[in-house]
Amino acid sequence: MNHPVTQAVPVALPGHPFVAYRNDSLQVENVALSTLAREHGTPLFVYSKAAMLSALAAYQRGFAGRDAQICYAMKANSSLGVLQVFAQAGCGFDIVSGGELERVLAAGGDAQKIIFSGVGKTRTEMRQALTAGIGCFNVESEAELEVLSSVASTMNLRAPVSIRVNPNVDPKTHPYISTGLKGNKFGVAHEDALRIYQHAASLKGLQVVGIDCHIGSQITDTAPYLDAMDRVLDLVTAIEAAGIPLAHIDFGGGLGINYNDDAPPAADALWRLLLAKLDARGYGGKKLMIEPGRSLVGNAGVCLTEVLYLKPGEQKNFCIIDAAMNDLPRPALYQAFHAIVPVALRGTGAVEATYDVVGPVCESGDWIGHDRALSVAAGDHLAVLSAGAYCMSMASNYNTRGRAAELLIDGSQVHLIRRRENVQDQMRQEQLVTA
Ligand code: LLP
Repeated sequence: MNHPVTQAVPVALPGHPFVAYRNDSLQVENVALSTLAREHGTPLFVYSKAAMLSALAAYQRGFAGRDAQICYAMKANSSLGVLQVFAQAGCGFDIVSGGELERVLAAGGDAQKIIFSGVGKTRTEMRQALTAGIGCFNVESEAELEVLSSVASTMNLRAPVSIRVNPNVDPKTHPYISTGLKGNKFGVAHEDALRIYQHAASLKGLQVVGIDCHIGSQITDTAPYLDAMDRVLDLVTAIEAAGIPLAHIDFGGGLGINYNDDAPPAADALWRLLLAKLDARGYGGKKLMIEPGRSLVGNAGVCLTEVLYLKPGEQKNFCIIDAAMNDLPRPALYQAFHAIVPVALRGTGAVEATYDVVGPVCESGDWIGHDRALSVAAGDHLAVLSAGAYCMSMASNYNTRGRAAELLIDGSQVHLIRRRENVQDQMRQEQLVTA
């Protein structure tokens, strides 16, 4: 990666409007990352509140004047302090478990703006969500419809439902994160949807309120969205013609971010196109819902890490850092690229070498970046970029490593939103066998 030259005016990193070098020192909003690393230790997640709100604003601009609800897909980052930002901004939430429901409520989210997705909701989770009074269950199978109807009936309630339809559109993303294809476990098949809607409408514990789809994640192209919208609107026409009114259409999430020269459309530009199609097909007045995750938080976060050792080798040089696959699982899981940049620039003339940047976990899959040109020494700090989504929420304790601390930056203010996990935290639920 090319390093910007020394400057007094902040130079934002591409795709990261609130992460910038000022006088060769990397900042998130107005706060120097070197100071945060010193004061809070590493690995350390640092999030920009302004970046989250600006990503949200792009969607809000896209939906100006429309009846639309943005439900943040909290699986992307479910830390309470992050949820609070979106709750205070009036967002709803897309949840996939009873645990996520409890988190939203603890963060001050509005239950009525919650939609509950996922192929494997348990009866306990259904009861919990019905008791909380969530806005909609996004049901993913006929069997789930039956169970939800019976659970709601025993509570003398009618569960609000939408059925997730599978538009069979290829989102052209990594196979592990494409979800709207025939071979995926999600949703019901397009050709079965009308029959399943008729079944749902006949069940006394259900109230059909909408239709939804979600075709995948890290989508950088507009075409799959436009195709999916056509396929879903065909179903809306057929379902309503069968006498089942649909109050809302939920188009899911999936919009990508810039990790490495990716060029996803801006949320407002994407929605200009999608709304034009909705209008052209006569559905512009319908209530819209969306479930964005990554695009709201991904580029709002960085993971700060310290270089522990440089290990030159015959075939490879290794830069061993104190963050690992338990903190940043995306490279190991999806061969994902995260940019890695120095926290303090060494200035022009500094010698670069090519490194595999790896963590301390005992697995060859524990790499964070391959073949990165870096000018580094042990003790330096590096920032792993685009670490706001699907990093902390997928972090683990593998190798009995405590999960990192998290900070939320708001201008010049630094808020600790999660303290570093220690080994006592990790051992709390365990016990030795006695007698
Ligand atoms: N709605 C549903 C039903 C979903 O399954 C997902 C993500 C979203 C919304 C949010 O999608 P987003 O806007 O964040 O793309 N761990 C993977 C991503 C898994 C996405 C799972 N579903 C990764 O790190 O790339």
